[in-house]
Amino acid sequence: MKGLTSKFKAVGALMTLALILSGCGEEFLSALRPQGQGASDILSLMILSIAVMMFVFVVVMVIYVFVILKFRQKKGQEDFIPEQVEGSHTLETLWTVVPIFLILILAVPTVQYTFSLVDTSPQVSAEGEEDQIWINVTGKQYWWHFEYDGMDVTTSQELYIPTDRRVFLSLHSEDVIHSFWVPTLQGKIDVNPTGNRNEIWIDAEKEGVYWGKCAEFCGPSHSLMDFKVVAVSPGEFEQWVKDMRNIDPEATPESEVAAAGQEVFANNCMSCHANGTSPNKIGPNVSNFGDRERIAGVLEYNKENLIEWIETKGKDMKPGNLMTSAAYDLSDEELEQVAEYLMSLSPSEITPENANDNEYIESDLSDLFVDEEKDESSQEKSEEESEEDSEEDSDSN
Ligand code: CUA
Repeated sequence: MKGLTSKFKAVGALMTLALILSGCGEEFLSALRPQGQGASDILSLMILSIAVMMFVFVVVMVIYVFVILKFRQKKGQEDFIPEQVEGSHTLETLWTVVPIFLILILAVPTVQYTFSLVDTSPQVSAEGEEDQIWINVTGKQYWWHFEYDGMDVTTSQELYIPTDRRVFLSLHSEDVIHSFWVPTLQGKIDVNPTGNRNEIWIDAEKEGVYWGKCAEFCGPSHSLMDFKVVAVSPGEFEQWVKDMRNIDPEATPESEVAAAGQEVFANNCMSCHANGTSPNKIGPNVSNFGDRERIAGVLEYNKENLIEWIETKGKDMKPGNLMTSAAYDLSDEELEQVAEYLMSLSPSEITPENANDNEYIESDLSDLFVDEEKDESSQEKSEEESEEDSEEDSDSN
């Protein structure tokens, strides 16, 4: 009876585990439900290797069962020794060649994908080379910083990208080794200190908010080093970039409490945290804090959590975080004001809600790259003009 109870307990535990693990199969988090080309490629490799392993397993089991049945000791054959096959050339060749063949089936696509998944050269289509969106990613204990190259946009913790095109990331760390991983979109890539930069691309086939993780043990809050990828349609992304580059950090918030908070923030927090495109990244950039999905990457977004975070500097909410050494002491009223101010920071009409509203706005994003091109073309034009001028000059001479 006791044995039966423990069996029930074991089955119960397994069922609970299955229920918990089934929660991992979400399309915003699971590598088994890819939403981007990179993750799809990786899943196809997983399926290929499982298929090869299953083939080996089935063949071995069939031979095993066959041999046990066929060559088992029969009555009256107690002293019979069957024919011995050691040194058989046929068998030796067979079990050398077949594994080599299987390893080749695994190795060729694996090596191919190893290179293509981090190939950051521009995509070329019939219209020519595509303009590349490059984002400089910095990993720090325990948060992420994003700078959009050539776009004058800086943000932290939530990475906005357009759907339907590759976005290129150049990653490095300012302290220890981290690993950047958005399971539904791409594989992991190490984020190294000491000047080494790694590059990778990510893409999202459809809009959504995808969860990102740090995948390299980096300290006590490693498992809390989460971030989000907010994939919006290209037109919405374009709007977001335009709004984000026009932030006026000095603009006074509408609410009086938030306005008071702005002052408290300026006097106590600005040495580490920036609002707008300032390069200061000692602490996370707060430009669009009001649109964040989470506080500190993991906590539910509400005022109580935010106040507790500011008051305790996240000491217990994210153990080991570097803010704990910040020297400030705010009154309850000031805490409330700063929280109100931070939650009022919403410079763009594009927020994570746009990633979930199924509204798709087209754009080839050419407006975002126009500055460079315009500069070049206007430069060319002025060169042409000056050539014409000099021709005219020489004509008149
Ligand atoms: Cu950063 Cu783990």
